[in-house]
Amino acid sequence: MVDTMPGIIITGRGGAGKTTIASNLGVYFTREEGLDTVVIDGDLFLPKLAFHFGIYNPAVNLHSILKDPRANPFSAVYRDPKTGVYVVPGSSNIYESRPEKPGQGSF
Ligand SMILES: Nc1ncnc2c1ncn2[C@@H]1O[C@H](COP(=O)(O)OP(=O)(O)OP(=O)(O)O)[C@@H](O)[C@H]1O
Ligand SMILES: [Mg+2]
Repeated sequence: MVDTMPGIIITGRGGAGKTTIASNLGVYFTREEGLDTVVIDGDLFLPKLAFHFGIYNPAVNLHSILKDPRANPFSAVYRDPKTGVYVVPGSSNIYESRPEKPGQGSF
């Protein structure tokens, strides 16, 4: 049996520190608690989590696997070699994460 402990970080306003604390919790749980930790960027509109781990323009990301029902979700999991944290980044392409016109987005 695999024990998992999901957690979600949300705030009522932008720029409050969600991405920073998510990154740091990922590092804490991995390094200090010895837990396999996956941090997923749930910010579909301006994802920046990957930058905290030095990941830029990930070819496979949360957006691409959400768009392709046949995609293997594990292909969007990257392991940060410095910390050992597993990261699921969003797309760095602003056109993938922003609707072209209001109300016409994919998400
Ligand atoms: N504890 C803190 N003390 C001081 N500055 C902080 C702290 N946490 C985050 N910051 C700074 O605040 C800014 C916003 O942080 P962050 O990107 O983590 O917030 P966010 O809630 O994810 O923002 P967004 O809503 O835009 O996604 C960044 O410049 C970050 O370096
Ligand atoms: Mg953020």
